[in-house]
Amino acid sequence: MPRRSIFLTGLLTCSAAFGAPDATRGQAVYQARCTACHSLDFNGVGPAHRGVFGRLAGTAKGFTNYSPALKRSGLTWTEANLDRWLADPEALVPGQSMGISLPDAGERADVIAFLRGLAKAKE
Ligand code: HEC
Repeated sequence: MPRRSIFLTGLLTCSAAFGAPDATRGQAVYQARCTACHSLDFNGVGPAHRGVFGRLAGTAKGFTNYSPALKRSGLTWTEANLDRWLADPEALVPGQSMGISLPDAGERADVIAFLRGLAKAKE
């Protein structure tokens, strides 16, 4: 029995550390870390996310609570900009109002793969 749990731990560690960006894993991270404030199709504390990949920052339809800083940032949500935003929103857009970050680069890559896949499905 102990042997089996060591094997499983090793397996999980490897896939988290070395896996390519994975939208399915990203969906799980999204559900755990983002849905307190965001959903795909409805504005909440944060703006709705469907179609966010490739969109101009601060332009989700009907979302009225953007910080002035994000609205005038002129950023487009490319992979690189999403990565910088999720790593440290305040460093990318001083004065923004999203109070969390995702310090783990692998989790960021997975969430970005998830958001990118959504944009494709819709357009
Ligand atoms: C505590 C609430 C909260 C959580 C949790 C949160 N966000 Fe946000 N998010 C916001 C708010 C508020 C904004 C608007 C920020 C602004 O206007 O400065 C925002 C904005 C964004 C934007 C910019 C959208 C646009 O239309 O320009 C992206 C992308 C984003 N969040 C992704 C995420 C992801 C991915 C997660 C999970 C890892 C997450 N957020 C977790 C509150 C949150």
